Amino acid sequence: MSTIVAPSLLAADFLHLNRDIEMLNRSEADWIHLDIMDGVFVPNISFGFPVINQLRKITLKPLDAHLMIVTPEKFIDEIAAAGATYMNVHYEACPHLHRIVQEIRKKGMKPAVTLNPHTPLSLLEEILPDLEMVLLMSVNPGFGGQQFIEGTIRKVAQLREMIAKRNSSTLIEVDGGINLETGRKLVDAGADVLVAGSFVFSSDDPIETIRQLKAL
Ligand code: DX5
Ligand code: ZN
Repeated sequence: MSTIVAPSLLAADFLHLNRDIEMLNRSEADWIHLDIMDGVFVPNISFGFPVINQLRKITLKPLDAHLMIVTPEKFIDEIAAAGATYMNVHYEACPHLHRIVQEIRKKGMKPAVTLNPHTPLSLLEEILPDLEMVLLMSVNPGFGGQQFIEGTIRKVAQLREMIAKRNSSTLIEVDGGINLETGRKLVDAGADVLVAGSFVFSSDDPIETIRQLKAL
């Protein structure tokens, strides 16, 4: 299986979203990664449903929603109505994670759980069989353009082992500071999905950059 690439729209030009989404449509990008922030769970605010519901109309790619918000369960219906394929919620934001994961599935989406850099993999032990994907943060969430945390590579390799032991098909996604160099190490360690924001959108040729990430 070739690497799944999910460009993060956070790094797009919001004055030319139409143009940037059309570029992604023409590219080999597999999904579009949507970073939804509330200024509470993370120290930043991004975009919400008025924007997502508009862009849904023009994108040809599945949507990978990453909710960096407290009480993400309040928005399961809206995220489903926006047509998201994956709904990522943070482990750190969900005291009733099992219930939320079941709700996400009930609404026809694929549930994924995200871990902050400091959150240990062992906390996934009980929930892993219920997940379609685990998203490992390789930066502290809230901003694009941050430096990759190297310890994520070891974490990916450990998660790959946990998943293999269960004979499960849960995907491993990684988000933050990804370029060709860090992406290469992550894929070698067992990552299935790479999220890339600034590396794609600040590139001179984003379509070619996406192609190179996919070829890792
Ligand atoms: C960070 C977001 C990321 C971000 C990645 O909180 O979850 O998806 O857009 O941006 P880069 O690739 O620039 O680190
Ligand atoms: Zn993200």
